[in-house]
Amino acid sequence: MTIMEKAPRIIVALDFPSAEPAFELVAALDPTLCRLKVGKEMFTRFGPSFVETLVTKGFDVFLDLKFHDIPNTVAAACAAAADLGVWMINLHASGGRRMMEGARDRLERLPQRPLLVAVTILTSLEQEDIAEAGFTGTPVANVVRLARLAERSGMDGIVCSPLEAADVRAAVSPGFLLVTPGVRPGQAALNDQRRIMTPSDALNSGADYLVIGRPITAAPDPLQSLQDILTEIRAD
Ligand code: C5P
Repeated sequence: MTIMEKAPRIIVALDFPSAEPAFELVAALDPTLCRLKVGKEMFTRFGPSFVETLVTKGFDVFLDLKFHDIPNTVAAACAAAADLGVWMINLHASGGRRMMEGARDRLERLPQRPLLVAVTILTSLEQEDIAEAGFTGTPVANVVRLARLAERSGMDGIVCSPLEAADVRAAVSPGFLLVTPGVRPGQAALNDQRRIMTPSDALNSGADYLVIGRPITAAPDPLQSLQDILTEIRAD
């Protein structure tokens, strides 16, 4: 387990409706420069073999399926995900301590396990949304509370907005990993993201890994776009 081993820090989100453009993009990328994220859409369409193919090509894969179920079911799903040889998996912190501890305990039985991170409050949720769902307090207060619970429950880190990273970083141990989507390089289109930060600002706020999709995947030259982001990070 190389939890302190951070480079490469960019995780490219593969969100394509078919496998061909994903493989075309992956052929242009380099596992020493980035990791890959497979989410619910591609996993549901193309399944475990798609993930295994990416692993075989030498990439670290973050399997972003955000498990949330009874502890036994989540633990079994985490073990199944680990069998695919992925680097990182995730679940919802709001599934509670027993669910998180059960998943962690199951993974710790393996000779080599993926990192296990917890989603706190989805960045798509605003104050009114979380209030309607029965949470009291601000989104960031809930993110910090769930981050602490995730750390106490043995998680390796959390997923949060880069705008919440500094508050979380101040509340958790230094080695606890922060994975942040909602990152946009200086010149990139916002797409449907609203609460964003540049890669350098996200890292300076305490993020360890940056999930970046369309600024790379939809660029005319994805490798160049990735290299520009890496240059921006190094120059900071
Ligand atoms: O293309 P873009 O950079 O917006 O992609 C961001 C990726 O991170 C997508 O796969 C999206 O589902 C994911 N994500 C996010 N916000 C979250 C959690 C995940 O944008 N709160």
